[in-house]
Amino acid sequence: MSAAASAPESASGGWIVLKFGGTSVSRRHRWDTIGRLAKRRAEETGGRVLVVVSALSGVTNELAAIADGAADAAGRVEALERRHRDFAAELGLDAEAVLGRRLAALRGLLEDPRAAARPLDWQAEVLAQGELLSSTLGVAYLQAQGLDFAWMDARDWLAALPRQPNQSEWSQRLSVTCQAQADDGWRARFAAQPGRMLLTQGFIARHADGGTAILGRGGSDTSAAYFGALLGAVRVEIWTDVPGMFSANPREVPDARLLTRLDYYEAQEIATTGAKVLHPRSIKPCRDSGVPMAILDTERPELPGTSIDGSAEPVPGVKAISRRNGIVLVSMEGIGMWQQVGFLADVFERFRRHGLSVDLIGTAETNVTVSLDPSENLVNTDVLAALSADLAEICRVKVIAPCAAITLVGRGMRSLLHKLSDVWAAFGRERVHMISQSSNDLNLTFVIDEADADGLLPELHAALIDSGAMPVAEAAVFGPRWRELEGRFRPRPVPWWHAPAMRARLRELAAAGTPRYVYHLPTVRERARQLKAVAAVDRRFYAIKANPHPAILRTVVEEGFGLECVSLAELRHVFAVLPELDPGRVLFTPSFAPRQEYAEAFALGVNVTLDNVEALQRWPEIFRGRRVWLRIDLGHGAGHHQKVVTGGKASKFGLSLARVDEFVDAARALGMVITGLHAHMGSGVDDPGHWRLMGDELAGFARRIGTVAILDIGGGLPIAYSDDEEPFDLDAWAASLAEVRAVHPAFDLVVEPGRFLVAECGVLLARATQVVEKDGVRRVGLDAGMNALVRPALYDAWHDIANLDRLDEPADAVFDVVGPICESSDVFGRRRHLPAATAPDDLMLIADAGAYGHAMASTYNLRALPAEDVIDGPAD
Ligand code: LLP
Repeated sequence: MSAAASAPESASGGWIVLKFGGTSVSRRHRWDTIGRLAKRRAEETGGRVLVVVSALSGVTNELAAIADGAADAAGRVEALERRHRDFAAELGLDAEAVLGRRLAALRGLLEDPRAAARPLDWQAEVLAQGELLSSTLGVAYLQAQGLDFAWMDARDWLAALPRQPNQSEWSQRLSVTCQAQADDGWRARFAAQPGRMLLTQGFIARHADGGTAILGRGGSDTSAAYFGALLGAVRVEIWTDVPGMFSANPREVPDARLLTRLDYYEAQEIATTGAKVLHPRSIKPCRDSGVPMAILDTERPELPGTSIDGSAEPVPGVKAISRRNGIVLVSMEGIGMWQQVGFLADVFERFRRHGLSVDLIGTAETNVTVSLDPSENLVNTDVLAALSADLAEICRVKVIAPCAAITLVGRGMRSLLHKLSDVWAAFGRERVHMISQSSNDLNLTFVIDEADADGLLPELHAALIDSGAMPVAEAAVFGPRWRELEGRFRPRPVPWWHAPAMRARLRELAAAGTPRYVYHLPTVRERARQLKAVAAVDRRFYAIKANPHPAILRTVVEEGFGLECVSLAELRHVFAVLPELDPGRVLFTPSFAPRQEYAEAFALGVNVTLDNVEALQRWPEIFRGRRVWLRIDLGHGAGHHQKVVTGGKASKFGLSLARVDEFVDAARALGMVITGLHAHMGSGVDDPGHWRLMGDELAGFARRIGTVAILDIGGGLPIAYSDDEEPFDLDAWAASLAEVRAVHPAFDLVVEPGRFLVAECGVLLARATQVVEKDGVRRVGLDAGMNALVRPALYDAWHDIANLDRLDEPADAVFDVVGPICESSDVFGRRRHLPAATAPDDLMLIADAGAYGHAMASTYNLRALPAEDVIDGPAD
């Protein structure tokens, strides 16, 4: 739901609070936006609007310098006065008439007898001038536009709470907390103010002594939240210059997702651990009084923004990952300290003495390590030296800095740990000083050296999505990615089976029985032609293991592809389907095959790939005098899942780099000629640069060997299985291969993709058998199971699932989609959105099942193999 574009929940009056920050009040057109939005809200709610504004951007910093006693205070005041007079002129206002009194008050503060000693009450008054000026200017402008706006002094309505225990004089004046509950009298007085719309200042409140108090950093957000709570507002909207909170800092992670809905606690945690869009202090007042909040983008009000409230159904999973720099760790060693009563009390008393508040704590039998967050503390070298000296009286102290705290935020972190293996692996390469899990189960924090954190966030963010720990398919929580909002995301094209004619055809085919695979040959041709257009590649084989259906083999061969086979049975199949095929267009790439398969492959005259020395030693007679391709393990793998990585020490494939010379010698001794080098390091690899690296590496070995003319850089090209992924960037791939070709012109480049050619051509049709609710989970069962398509069970693979009979109905209900097999892993997808009316006998479609679908099917539970059909031509 778009908070910006639709009417708020309550249309029966009440208050709505809008807050605009420094950048939103510094330009004339922004004030037009403020006026427009306020008016629209008043109309939508039928109620009244309170607008809270910050000072013009940069002004508070100037005032802080003046309050701190900067030498050229008079000059700074003069510059501020000019800035505001100029802005009044830009707004078409009479600067003297509107601002004269306020500017005089600002100048007067420098003449004030207190100015010399700069007591805190004087500083507060200096700091307050920015908001007083901006709100005065703004209200004059809005009134001039004919809007029913009145100005009010926030100090008449927000009262700083009396001094808290342990609160310093400074924070009691310059970082105050306010009362957030109003009695009826307060509300009645407030309501009696003139004007449908009111404009007031953020950041300032009334001190108990009648003077001015300041809410501290992020104070305007907090002011808006206090007003929202006091008024029992319909909503508090924080209008800012970003679209909302994201799953990571978009500047570091362009794939970060807009978080469209959070509960107060998650939002609080995200605001505290990273996102700067909302001040963490501002959430509590709204939470305590149940006032919903929204973060919205002033420049793009049509975007959904982030809604924060307490009524959303909790969605478990990681919502955001953040990084805080400048963290200081203090590690304290004390022998046998746990036996010492009061040790921790002694330790923390010393932190208190230096005004330091501790963030994370890790304890061991002889060590306590704590972190200090610079945003909460004044941690400079003097403070740390004094603290260390104090602590040294009771333990051995080590300060570790600068560190970065990387925090995962989300509900139910403890139950997610099993999904975080890739995250742990990423951290495994760094030195983790400390891991801390919050007691509210909302965050997990890793502290590492600041330098090690560079570049880590995009990797972690991707790993969280891939592992399912960050459930980005939950459309109620995860919105568009930043890159998408910036217009830098290439969405997937609409699949072929969406066309009404195709749907009708699929329904006809399904009438003959389900489960049934259907392959759309025009899609295969289109993919084949895309690959043929990549000029840097000299020869292409299709890896038939992905889908050996005869019609598909004929189609790709017609498109000029050779065929790559991994077993003798695949070779025989190929020649049975295409008896005329030139054996030179066939490649045999077996793994741990029996002797006979090599012998027959040579007899058939196909190209043979070999990947170990032992076969030469054991069966010299098979290989003597032969021309072979050598498959090498380049030592690094990649792929959409650990189980499809075919490189590196843990993989059974390829000759170890360390044994290449041994192989070459053994082959020479048998009079063999190595004509090709081959590598395939994994399947479903997203990085277009992967193959360039392989080409480079293979070329190096090829030169050493001398007889090699062909470099086969394998298959592994990915497809986008979900809307969340972009189609593979073929142009980038082509460009990187062109570089390889240019640098190594002596060699022919060969590729052997499977998935890329056929995944999208295939769908699996299945009938819904039963729809069952159990303990709050609704499941739709199909007559196809993991025996028909094993990829979800085996690799946690995502396949889109649609109800073909109800494709035009909104997918407004959530189901787990399961099969009939007697295994708990017989699940095609969890929490999938399908039409609520989904019912038994509906025809369901599992998309992108053309690769490794039927080819991996089994008769487990004695269920029959799915049938197969092809569709050719658009009208067929
Ligand atoms: N060449 C060799 C030597 C291979 O082992 C493979 C796939 C390919 C080419 C084709 O890879 P492709 O372009 O399709 O990624 N069942 C897994 C994929 C296993 C791939 C096995 N080898 C899946 O469903 O994702």
